[in-house]
Amino acid sequence: MINVAIDGPSGAGKSTIAKAVAKKKGFIYVDTGALYRSIGLYVSRKGIAKEDKESIISCLPEISLELKYVEGVQRVYLNSEDVSEAIRMPEISMYASAVSSVQEVRDFLLGIQRDMAKKYDVIMDGRDIGTVILPDATVKIFMTASNEGRAKRRYKELCEKGVETTYEEVLRDMTERDRADSTRAIAPAVPAEDAIMFDNTEYGIEECVDRIIDIIEEAAAKRG
Ligand code: DC
Repeated sequence: MINVAIDGPSGAGKSTIAKAVAKKKGFIYVDTGALYRSIGLYVSRKGIAKEDKESIISCLPEISLELKYVEGVQRVYLNSEDVSEAIRMPEISMYASAVSSVQEVRDFLLGIQRDMAKKYDVIMDGRDIGTVILPDATVKIFMTASNEGRAKRRYKELCEKGVETTYEEVLRDMTERDRADSTRAIAPAVPAEDAIMFDNTEYGIEECVDRIIDIIEEAAAKRG
């Protein structure tokens, strides 16, 4: 199996690039953030505070998550409800980040991620894929872009979805979430020792996709 790990901060273009690479290479694209977001959505719907770790943990036995692929596009099901759109709201991003700092939540999601990588050629996007989930990945890429570049992309995405927000708000939330994700005690969003660093600030999407495919093909050839 080919397992490609793509980690990095929010808005670095991981999902756009990984989706395009998956399409060209016939891999399954796994967006692991959607799993944390789904737990965040469940917790927020129950009216539990983001900081209330004990209540978050007590929700886990009530949660069942499933990833399905419809014409190659990932859909995520929370207790049989398709929540693929609901999890994209900005307030759920902050909930996702909060629940992701809880060890029990990370343990809960480990199996579903590893199972996908065992069954399929995958390109998996997240924060700890190279460090924790798939330590033996065929290739690990840590993708970054400038803060302003990332916030601009996120802002545009949200506007296109009709979400009311401002660039300043997006930049502030993004910076806060990245700080929390990269400094947390458990599985922080940091590059694996053997990750290839890829800053895409200066590149267009097509160029990134081609470069990532070159990196994957080189790594796969080395592994034989
Ligand atoms: O990739 P995203 O923005 O959809 O992720 C939402 C949150 O989930 C992010 O702030 C941190 C967390 N996350 C994580 O801790 N580990 C992952 N592999 C993916 C996401």
